[in-house]
Amino acid sequence: MELVSSLVSVAIVLLTALGIVLWAKVSNLKRKLPPGPPGWPVFGHMFNLGSDPHMATAKLGERYGPVIWLRLGSINTMVILSAKAAAEFFKNHDLSFADRKIIGTMHSHDYHQSSLALAPYGSFWRMLRRICTVEMFVQKKINETESFRRKCVDDMMLWIEEEANNVMEEGGGIQVTRFIFLASFNMVGNLMLSRDLVDPKSKTASEFYTAMMGVMEWSGKPNISDLFGFLKSFDLQGLKRKNDRDMGKAMEIVSAFVKERMNEQKEGQEKRKDFLDVLLEFEGNGKDEPDKLSEHNINVFILEMFLAGSETTSSTAEWVLTELLHHPEEMTKVQAEIDKVVEAGKKFEEKDIDKLPYLQAVVKEGLRLHPPIPFLIPRRATCDANFMDYQIPTNTQVLVNAWAIGRDPDCWDDPTSFKPQRFIGSKVDYKGQNFEYIPFGAGRRMCVGISLGHRMLHFMLGSLLHEFDWELDGSIKGKPIDMRERVGSTMRKFVPLKAVPRKRIVLNSH
Ligand code: HEM
Repeated sequence: MELVSSLVSVAIVLLTALGIVLWAKVSNLKRKLPPGPPGWPVFGHMFNLGSDPHMATAKLGERYGPVIWLRLGSINTMVILSAKAAAEFFKNHDLSFADRKIIGTMHSHDYHQSSLALAPYGSFWRMLRRICTVEMFVQKKINETESFRRKCVDDMMLWIEEEANNVMEEGGGIQVTRFIFLASFNMVGNLMLSRDLVDPKSKTASEFYTAMMGVMEWSGKPNISDLFGFLKSFDLQGLKRKNDRDMGKAMEIVSAFVKERMNEQKEGQEKRKDFLDVLLEFEGNGKDEPDKLSEHNINVFILEMFLAGSETTSSTAEWVLTELLHHPEEMTKVQAEIDKVVEAGKKFEEKDIDKLPYLQAVVKEGLRLHPPIPFLIPRRATCDANFMDYQIPTNTQVLVNAWAIGRDPDCWDDPTSFKPQRFIGSKVDYKGQNFEYIPFGAGRRMCVGISLGHRMLHFMLGSLLHEFDWELDGSIKGKPIDMRERVGSTMRKFVPLKAVPRKRIVLNSH
């Protein structure tokens, strides 16, 4: 009896799914949609994307044009592949696509309900965005927090030297990105909470770090439950369960920090003026905002800064270093520039960044070829929209392929080559106004941490290049560098970079 009722339930689910797909197909037949390859029944184009969806969609663009239409399971998806189409999207249609498509794992502990990155475009999102732009990421605030970043970079240098000494005897290189990631993680930790969250001596810190690594892993994996609405509650790959566990642990730890701070404030202890204090002191505008942020809002905000700020900066730094090792003449050029600006025996400082146009060009070129979030954060159509003469239905997911756009041959000469020189004397920047170059996105939902990300990236890379000469690990020297990519929560190197740092002796070039 039980078997029969289970079979009936499965049949009902499958028929409903088929019904929904057919209904979607019929209603889409009446619309003018962007072109795209023929898809499978039910699965649509799920199998067209493979493990490198940014490349696969770019390839489809060569055949079908700059805007393509895919159906991923039951999700209608529009992919934007050229600078021209991106300009049209961000300049004239940003508002109609200002919401986000939210994946299942982000429902863990109601994360999505307090998240800035996932919030629907509206008063809650505006409030969090204003806190970021006015209170946290303005130049003045970023300048005031330089000493935090200095300490994190100094720690990173010590860890690298120690690790280099350990592995030197074995003749190998070090996985430098691990240390860049830890430094980025601690930078965010100090800005938010005035504490190191990668501290070998602290159990809580290492538990937090492990839990956050889990969250990044589970949320970066493709999830079949996201592609078919009716599978949402089944969690076939167990990703939501694992994310519930790790997000729960991270949330518990952050919540304890927040409570501790609230108690300190009750006891009248001196304020620290970090971002947690800003969040606790926040008062709404008395109109469409809450009077105070809830504890859940604050916990999620803090977690989000770790998620958004550490992987992006460290994977970019890894790619830039890899490209420089691949192009030793560029490495020599950028180090020579740094040597002219930073006196021998002195440390690289944040104030040096503005005097180093070639270092900036190298970072820009790295971000052009390897944007860490290749599809930006997926958008969602909030209403039926007429985009470039196509009739895009409500709820369509939009992927803007920043990777393909950064290689658009209509905009870039020799687009696949690493040539930082192209940015010297050019006004093209990543601030969201040049649609051929959008590693930080564009429009209303563009990255809110861009000024901090800029500072972190240049400070860490400048310091690494100033204090060390870098060589490829002995085992891969003389062989072509493996430049394959792996798309997860960010686009990292498939094979992590291993490099040998050698302490530099710089003679005064002033
Ligand atoms: C190399 C560094 C970084 C890169 C390349 C980067 C890139 C991006 C991209 C592509 C988006 C989506 C934009 C869109 O959908 O149009 C984004 C959003 C966001 N980023 Fe960043 N990011 C970086 C660093 C940071 C840092 C350091 C923080 C904060 C600590 C941060 C916080 C955020 C937040 C909160 C959002 C969501 C904004 C919204 O939805 O309104 N990012 N970032």
